[in-house]
Amino acid sequence: MSTVSLEFGSTFADCLARTVAADARLADAAAVIAACAEAAVDVSEVIGRGMLGGADLAATGGNNSDGDVQKALDVLAHERFTEALRGAPVAVVASEEAEGMMQLNPGAPLAVAIDPLDGSSNIGVNMAVGSIFGIRPVVAGEADSIASFTTPGTEQIAAGFVTYGPATSLVVTLGHGTQIYTLDRETRTFRLTHPRLEVVASAKEYAINASNARNWDGPVKAYIEDCLRGSEGPLDKDFNMRWLGSLVADAQRVLLRGGVFLYPGDNRKGYAQGRLRLLYEAAPIAMLMEQAGAGAIDGERRILDIGATGIHERVPLIFGSIDEVACVAKYYGGRN
Ligand code: AHG
Ligand code: MN
Ligand code: MN
Ligand code: MN
Repeated sequence: MSTVSLEFGSTFADCLARTVAADARLADAAAVIAACAEAAVDVSEVIGRGMLGGADLAATGGNNSDGDVQKALDVLAHERFTEALRGAPVAVVASEEAEGMMQLNPGAPLAVAIDPLDGSSNIGVNMAVGSIFGIRPVVAGEADSIASFTTPGTEQIAAGFVTYGPATSLVVTLGHGTQIYTLDRETRTFRLTHPRLEVVASAKEYAINASNARNWDGPVKAYIEDCLRGSEGPLDKDFNMRWLGSLVADAQRVLLRGGVFLYPGDNRKGYAQGRLRLLYEAAPIAMLMEQAGAGAIDGERRILDIGATGIHERVPLIFGSIDEVACVAKYYGGRN
């Protein structure tokens, strides 16, 4: 596939057109991403108003099938993205907020996995949240089964996430590098602000929920202990730490200034494979990271080589600056 040269400031629609001109196989994926971008603008406007038809965005309902408390904004984002995808060439959707797969357009070529609202615990305290999506082809003849979602992440042809922060940004890849678009609220247009991200190879920041330290597996415990020893320890450098509670916000920081993010398995009940879901969190983030020259592993395997066995399957997730991910892999024995 030839590389696509995208100009700073171009509109998202223009960049999608250029990408498809260079690789016609991406036409359907481009239509799906355009639909996600539309849904993202709607969600961004609801968040900006701080309420949902007079109700509190953080108002809790029941629990989703993965056991998470479902907030009003989780449900709204799920509805807006699903509705938008109904108008795109999408046959099936797997969403964090739905137990099973949803059939949209029979015979359509694509399967989309979505985390409609990532970082729900941040909604009530006005911190950054996001939406994540991964796009892959429907496995021929298998549109009624979850077969299209159990292929390895390398089958994804596109992926992206939206960050609803001080600005609303869309981080996206169609396999031609990773770009960032920023929403111009006046014109409801996403404009290209980062034409080709390249994550710095070495990290000075790590992101991990340190309150789980006593529960982590051995390799992560040893790695973080060495991080804490800084320039007096074997890693021979001093670190800073950030933990934002929203995967998308931590991922955007890593894309922009390097670092390493870790959500390992731990020995709390139900957390042997960590907290994050392979299909609609780890796999899309892994594609975006690799397209920006960074890495993403579960400790021993490349995330993109792993095929899910279920829609809500969890996986330990370590991603970021390529040298730091390789360093963490050594604590796991170095195989990945
Ligand atoms: P979600 O809100 O979609 O369920 O995802 C929340 C995830 C992720 O965004 C974040 O990195 C992680 O949960 C934070 O987990 P802890 O609260 O255990 O730190
Ligand atoms: Mn959740
Ligand atoms: Mn999430
Ligand atoms: Mn979510």
